[in-house]
Amino acid sequence: MSDLSTRYLGLELKNPLVPSASPLSRSLDMAKRLEDAGAAAIVMYSLFEEEISADEEAMDQLLHHQDIGHAEAVSYLPAHEVYKTHLENYLEHLSALKKALDIPVIASLNGTTAGGWIEHSKQLQEAGADALEINVYYLAADVGQSGEAVESRYVEILTGLKGHVSIPVTMKLSPQFSSVGHFIHRLEAAGADGVSLFNRFYLPDINLENLDVMPSLNLSTSAESRLAMRWIAILHGHVNLSLAATGGIHVAEDVIKLLLAGADITHVCSALLKHGPEHLTVMLEETQRWLEENEYESVQQLKGSVSLIHAEDPTAFERTNYMDVLNSWVPRS
Ligand SMILES: Cc1cc2nc3c(=O)[nH]c(=O)nc-3n(C[C@H](O)[C@H](O)[C@H](O)COP(=O)(O)O)c2cc1C
Repeated sequence: MSDLSTRYLGLELKNPLVPSASPLSRSLDMAKRLEDAGAAAIVMYSLFEEEISADEEAMDQLLHHQDIGHAEAVSYLPAHEVYKTHLENYLEHLSALKKALDIPVIASLNGTTAGGWIEHSKQLQEAGADALEINVYYLAADVGQSGEAVESRYVEILTGLKGHVSIPVTMKLSPQFSSVGHFIHRLEAAGADGVSLFNRFYLPDINLENLDVMPSLNLSTSAESRLAMRWIAILHGHVNLSLAATGGIHVAEDVIKLLLAGADITHVCSALLKHGPEHLTVMLEETQRWLEENEYESVQQLKGSVSLIHAEDPTAFERTNYMDVLNSWVPRS
């Protein structure tokens, strides 16, 4: 049997398949099914900065109005004994997951500022989180904002988190940086233990009947995994932090290609939402079979063997590929 174990964020994982943040982790039963299907660790759904801030504001209101005796204002706010904040619920669920599972549990924070909400990361560590993933889902819609300002925002959030926790911290990034590699180096220097590539921006659509902007959530397809594949192949060997691939990993072939590119782990989300937690077992068995058939003793041996580490000039290599691809198209006569 080939050895599927891998190291991610300093954690020894039994294999490279890790369900990424999704509603599946909201249920203890689903999380247990993921573990039983072979998940090596699990990332929880995100706790949002906006949820923490809204709770803090509600609590502020409650206390303030109680002080000055606005009975009617208090009446629509829940009594604190029955009202649990998003943070309290999240911490409770994290503790329950830790109790129910043997695999590492990675808590997920989601926010865009380096404000006071970040302090709560300490409580996630105290509740047993093995590591922390921070998703800065930030779209620079202000056309006057520079790329440098956007990068600095990420670095400030990371530095803030690292000041509060001693568990490993990884950042889930979007692909929309002008120099992904340089930026990841910057994050590494600021203390990032890993990066997860890439966050998907959900793209709204326009309804042509009422001209409403409609949010849309489409699950991914395998083709999307090539974005992470490209960047992980470029980064492998040039960074020391952990590399997680996310986006479009649906079948064993996707897992194997990402490992060949240099990923330490592969995240799965859409495929599990589509086919259920047990799909992980199929992915694992087929990954194991491929390694054996191709005489790889371990995931470690496979990792990065098709990266761009030995390419003399990866930029020129990409440029040549680009030209080849365009020139390969034969128009219909
Ligand atoms: C329904 C749904 C909920 C998600 N919730 C979160 C979340 O809470 N936090 C987060 O960082 N990513 C979240 N994601 C993103 C996934 O973790 C994953 O990175 C993304 O879907 C790409 O992977 P996939 O192609 O395997 O779906 C969610 C995705 C879906 C489809």
